[in-house]
Amino acid sequence: MSKRRDFAGFHTRTPNEARVVDYFLGGKDNFAADRKAAEQAVALAPELPMMALESRRFLGRVVRFLAGEGIRQFVDIGCGLPTQNNAHEVAQAAAPESRVVYVDFDPVVVTHARAILADDVRTSVVQADMRDPDLILGHPDLVRLIDLKRPVAILLISALQAIPEDEVALDVTTRLRERICPGSWMVISHPVSDSRPDVTEQLATMFQDEKIVKGTRRRDNLRSQAEIEPYFDGLELADPGIVRTPAWRPDRGEPRVDPETVWSIVGVGRKP
Ligand SMILES: C[S@@+](CC[C@H](N)C(=O)[O-])C[C@H]1O[C@@H](n2cnc3c(N)ncnc32)[C@H](O)[C@@H]1O
Repeated sequence: MSKRRDFAGFHTRTPNEARVVDYFLGGKDNFAADRKAAEQAVALAPELPMMALESRRFLGRVVRFLAGEGIRQFVDIGCGLPTQNNAHEVAQAAAPESRVVYVDFDPVVVTHARAILADDVRTSVVQADMRDPDLILGHPDLVRLIDLKRPVAILLISALQAIPEDEVALDVTTRLRERICPGSWMVISHPVSDSRPDVTEQLATMFQDEKIVKGTRRRDNLRSQAEIEPYFDGLELADPGIVRTPAWRPDRGEPRVDPETVWSIVGVGRKP
């Protein structure tokens, strides 16, 4: 088990990823520094709030899909601030016995989530760094609810971009895949540099703050789709494979968004 425990601190004057996303989604759990960073980002890429919403829609679709596949255990890593249609709400609406463990290293996220989930005995919140999958999967608050001998779904939704080093991100996905049993699933979504490299380069610089993720290298741009594909090695991808977020099994009646305007990809893979 690694000794890495460098959690994000609680700095209201430093923009914070989870709170910026909260602002994009119209939430109230953000501070002036987050709103300023969010507005600067929107000035560069006006599609960002729409992309945050599309990411939440995907979360709902994929949790319902996995519930339909018989999955009753979910681990949502880099879960972000609670908002609407959180994983446990979607999973328990489909199958009330579903158990969901949320993981984030941000104390604001963890405090909010614990307050909201205090009465739900089928959920728990683990404060941990996703770069330490062994610590996460061995955490007493996870082990209490999740039986790793039975199929589980690991959700990494818009989370891995917070790990700038390719080899570390690949190691995280590899170690998670190794620890879950056959029949388990991994869900990965990730923003990509392919369509708007100039914009994503500026955003990547803007959001890399060593105060938030200590001890990591900076990178020049977000990953490309080709750089993310290896995270799905060893998994059988559900149809339609690795696609832009709105293109993954859209629900009938959902607002139609041109997938090409959303520069994030998703893939949903089953461990054979
Ligand atoms: C862009 S938000 C995504 C939130 C949510 N999954 C969603 O799609 O709306 C990324 C989340 O990852 C968390 N995060 C970033 N680096 C992390 C790390 N090393 N360990 C655990 N969580 C991390 C942040 O605190 C934040 O809540």
